Amino acid sequence: SGDRRSGDRRWERGVADMARDATRRRAPVASPVVTTLTLASADPAVVDTDAIVVGVTTSADGSPPRLAPGAGSLDAAFGGRLAAALAALGASGGEGEVTRLSSLGATRAPVVAAVGLGAAPAEGDGDGGPARFAAETVRRAAGAAVRALAGTSRVALALPGEDVRAAAEGALLGAYAFDRYRSASADQRKPPVTAVSLIVANAENPAARDAVRRAEVVTRAVALARDLVNTPPNDLHPQELADAAVAACAGLEVEVLDEDALRRGGFGGILGVGQGSAHPPRLVRIAYRHPEATRHVALVGKGITFDSGGLSLKPAEGMDWMKSDMGGAAAVIAAMQAVRDLAPRGNVTGWVPTAENMPSGTAQRPSDVLTTYGGKTVEVLNTDAEGRLILADAIVRAAEEHPDVLVDAATLTGAQLVALGTRTFGVMANDDELRAAVVDAAGRAGEAAWPMPLPDELRKGLDSEVADIANVASDKWGGMLRAGVFLREFVPDGVRWAHLDIAGPAFNHGEPYGYTPKGGTGAAVRTFVQVVEDLAGG
Ligand code: BES
Ligand code: MN
Ligand code: ZN
Repeated sequence: SGDRRSGDRRWERGVADMARDATRRRAPVASPVVTTLTLASADPAVVDTDAIVVGVTTSADGSPPRLAPGAGSLDAAFGGRLAAALAALGASGGEGEVTRLSSLGATRAPVVAAVGLGAAPAEGDGDGGPARFAAETVRRAAGAAVRALAGTSRVALALPGEDVRAAAEGALLGAYAFDRYRSASADQRKPPVTAVSLIVANAENPAARDAVRRAEVVTRAVALARDLVNTPPNDLHPQELADAAVAACAGLEVEVLDEDALRRGGFGGILGVGQGSAHPPRLVRIAYRHPEATRHVALVGKGITFDSGGLSLKPAEGMDWMKSDMGGAAAVIAAMQAVRDLAPRGNVTGWVPTAENMPSGTAQRPSDVLTTYGGKTVEVLNTDAEGRLILADAIVRAAEEHPDVLVDAATLTGAQLVALGTRTFGVMANDDELRAAVVDAAGRAGEAAWPMPLPDELRKGLDSEVADIANVASDKWGGMLRAGVFLREFVPDGVRWAHLDIAGPAFNHGEPYGYTPKGGTGAAVRTFVQVVEDLAGG
């Protein structure tokens, strides 16, 4: 009868495998980059393309919008009446507004599109030079135009030309689409633009060509992070997230610890969170090394492939949002890919603790005590505060390699949304200078970030009756900061650490805007890359 039982178990495993194969719809692999970007020095009026895009700015007192620099001889081709024609179509020049008109043969491109840049920058802005548009204004305008022109195959952008990198990034980010799960026959949506050309003064300028190359690398990484977040959780369990890291970071050293290795290593946080799931947890380590490195940056990302809350189950309403609970992990994997391609003169190590947080007969219970990597014990009073448990293990492990700086990104708390809304992530740190440097890097990369404190008094509420620390406090106020204070307990002395709470920014439930689509956004990827370039040498 012993034989029979084991036979039954084998059979059950076979059925489970078949069920999994049957429910798998698409392999979780990155979509090929379909959009190309080239530089061209040409008069926008005669460039060979399907749609030519110019910028327009608002003007006070209801007069027509103004054409932004870069439009070249386009207005002349329309007999000086382009701005008036756009005004007649209702264009105001407001940010993100896209107005299309037929060129009726006035230009080689059959369609002219005007994208709003908002108010023109103030003349001179201090240095006496010409007024410059903010990089993020150009990035968003390029994205909005390319997004609105989906269904057009070739688009040329004749935008204010000073920031090639921003324009290129915006255009490529705006061309993103996630259609892996749609039947071609049922897909009503227009295909993304396939070829973008940026019209610049000198297409051979080495600085401009380098800017395009960097934009390609960074936007490919953002698209990867978006794909990983958008991939449904029945196709992206911890093992598949680890597989995606291996595939995306080919050429780097990628090591995956399975549940046996995690047990041998004493990773009690990751194991505790993962023990309720039929899909066991993993810890991924991705290493980039430069022979002349003098600095080492560690990146850590929360990789909960689905957060049901565990036995502290979440309400059904909105639970689908929790497929984005691996947004921090996606950002780490994507940033490591970009680091590989940009090859900075520093060492960078990416860490991805990943688990599925599920309720079941094997799930951890509220009041369980687990021993995290390195020995600190945690009383799990709420199984839905799981991100901090897997991060505790990963932070302690990452710190063993003595990075100069450790930065984590995590969809960690609903309180982040209460405090900062859906688009701005919170930045906490154990070092004021590092926090300021990370916020500044985010701004230069085009991501909205805001510094937040880690008040010492919040530690007391985490005292446990039985263990070294509890994972939640009875007082719910300041939840984002409380989670940060919990994590700080696991950062060894001497390690400079910053924590990004990207709960809201990782996923866009609202309408698309600028270069940001619905769904996965790729939040923190560009900030990570910028931080690495700043701190580990570009
Ligand atoms: N993954 C969630 C946080 C989250 C909420 C991300 C909304 C994105 C959108 C996290 O694991 C969680 O459940 N946090 C709890 C913590 C609480 C139990 C202390 C929360 O924020 O409610
Ligand atoms: Mn949770
Ligand atoms: Zn979570």
